[in-house]
Amino acid sequence: MLHLHRSSYALGVNRAGFLVNRYWGARLPTESIPDAADSEGWASFNGPGQLLPEEYPAWGSGLSYVEPCLKATFADGVRALDLRVVGAEVNGERELIIQLRDNHYPLRVSLLYRAHPTHDLIERSVTIHNDGDTPVRLERAFSAQWHPPAGHSYRLSHLTGRWLDEWHIRRDRLPHGTTRLESRRIMTGHQHSSWFALDDGGAGEETGEVWFGALAWSGSWALTAEVTDFESQMTRVSLGVNDWDFAWQVPPGDTFTTPATIAGWTDGGFGAASRALHDHIREDVLPHGVTSHNVLYNSWEATLFDVDEPGQTALAEIAADLGVELFVMDDGWFKGRHHDRAGLGDWSPDTAKFPHGLKPLIDRVNALGMGFGIWVEPEMVNPDSDLYRAHPDWVIHFPNRERTTARNQLMLNMAREEVQDYTIQWLDALLGNHKISFVKWDANRNVSEPGGWYGEEARELWVRYTQGVYRVFETIRARHPHVVFQSCSGGGGRADLGILRHADQIWVSDNTEPAARLGIQEGFSQVFPASVMEAWVTDAGTLSLDFRFAVSMCGALGIGANLLKWSDEERRKAKAWVALYKQIRDVVQLGDQYRLLPAQGQGYSAVQYMAKDASEGVLFVFRTHLAEPATFPTLYLRGMKDDARYTIEGLDGARSGAAWMRAGLQVPLKSEIVWTHGTMEYRIGDFTAAVRRIARVPG
Ligand code: GLA
Repeated sequence: MLHLHRSSYALGVNRAGFLVNRYWGARLPTESIPDAADSEGWASFNGPGQLLPEEYPAWGSGLSYVEPCLKATFADGVRALDLRVVGAEVNGERELIIQLRDNHYPLRVSLLYRAHPTHDLIERSVTIHNDGDTPVRLERAFSAQWHPPAGHSYRLSHLTGRWLDEWHIRRDRLPHGTTRLESRRIMTGHQHSSWFALDDGGAGEETGEVWFGALAWSGSWALTAEVTDFESQMTRVSLGVNDWDFAWQVPPGDTFTTPATIAGWTDGGFGAASRALHDHIREDVLPHGVTSHNVLYNSWEATLFDVDEPGQTALAEIAADLGVELFVMDDGWFKGRHHDRAGLGDWSPDTAKFPHGLKPLIDRVNALGMGFGIWVEPEMVNPDSDLYRAHPDWVIHFPNRERTTARNQLMLNMAREEVQDYTIQWLDALLGNHKISFVKWDANRNVSEPGGWYGEEARELWVRYTQGVYRVFETIRARHPHVVFQSCSGGGGRADLGILRHADQIWVSDNTEPAARLGIQEGFSQVFPASVMEAWVTDAGTLSLDFRFAVSMCGALGIGANLLKWSDEERRKAKAWVALYKQIRDVVQLGDQYRLLPAQGQGYSAVQYMAKDASEGVLFVFRTHLAEPATFPTLYLRGMKDDARYTIEGLDGARSGAAWMRAGLQVPLKSEIVWTHGTMEYRIGDFTAAVRRIARVPG
């Protein structure tokens, strides 16, 4: 029994010895929680396991055909597991470990449950112990199975996308049978996020019961949601390392530990579900914890590969004048990197572009009062590089098969220790020899021909690769703890709770066109807080600078435009926006986020951020398209104290929090009719935005 702030999660062993979920939902007194369910099975076609909400079903024994969490083969060829509960221990107030053991073979499974009471979240992971003297081959080892209450037909909310177009919120009724979301790419992928939310179809942003969760893993992953007829519909959601082409040999005396999955319940709708994850990520996951980030400049869209000391210096000087605090030099700075066909792997400054190394540029950037950041892509190599010429065997590949390139690059085999060590060595030297405070860690392709693990079990590559990436991160972070890391994979291709144990921020998408970005940011915010969401103002698209700033100020603001081309007027405006952002950034990045009106598929949207103590906030409103004559939706603010009084910039008078929240307000972003010299110009109000600060009146 795990009692959280507002919810309860209960499990128990039934009479037949199955570990089953007893309850997950709104908090109930212990005595009201139902007993662990028993079942006799149904007809000759379904055993008890088929009908029970088993916490960690193992495959092979009995008449159960539901999605298992564990599948293994013993050395003698037996492929059936028969796990029984043998013990449980409680560690402090937050942890419960349940021990399962096979009833014949020396295989033990420890299920770890960690409660996060304030956010109503439960974290689960599993360690599989081979206590015998012959190896055990795992063919599936998921992290958990989650059981929302039976008897409901659930709607699954999930996030889909592709490069340049990530984070679409989809809400699909789960069909009977198994729905599978996954990545087979060795990275999290742009296509799907390892996040889910289930509701009965009636939840909204602020109301309704939602069961939600995510997986903390940055490699190939799978989520299965299975609906069966029993108990007039049972729904089981499993998450874990993808078992596609996966196997893992656990040697005698050894263990395999899965990544963690976290899940929660709320009756406050999708908004409350997101806020619980936001708080958890900031407080429990991120390496630097609850902290807001600097306004950065990034050179990529301004210069592409055309990076050199004078060019970067010129950009840095303008950036500093705008109030930027961190100058990040993107791709193109290292040996032979004049385009994307060469250079990856050779991580020393290009001598033609930086004849005196990076120091003069970094010194200049520091003298301008900014930190210096740099782009790297440690897992990749161009065939046209000294590294590849020296170590052609270091890439992921199969013999006798083509090494398929993508963006002219191959993947280094981060599963191999010598490749990890090499990566640690050059990254350590780069950070040790230069004053670098920020690293953008990119990864611009996914795997092909997945060969290159030469241990007993070649299919371990999938997991060992990600473990290798994590090891490099951990080692470098330990040696350079002050450095802030950004996870990027061609935009949002590696965004998950696993990478956020190592990286502080995420590059959400390579698409920086602000109208598209509004929807992208909204999808991203289902899972991740604004502090993690880097958002740059660039030159992409045709929309006004004001609109672009308003969009990017909803996250951790950056600028990625070619500042040399900005007019004095644009620079003046930018300076004012950056100054305002610095005043509101703690509220945006560390406060509570309320999606008042959705951006995806809507022409008028609003998002509000409130400080945790409800003392101040900021409201962003965006009009992308409303047909004329337009009417403006009423916005009902959130997160205020009912009886405190608040002012809203641009509106007259103070009103109580209750009034702003219940009576609402309107922010008309109107079209204008302008008469000049007798001709009428109709200035449509589309693509305009308002940024309104919210202040509590003292007393
Ligand atoms: C990826 C990133 C971009 C940029 C380029 C550099 O596409 O997502 O932001 O860093 O690589 O090559």
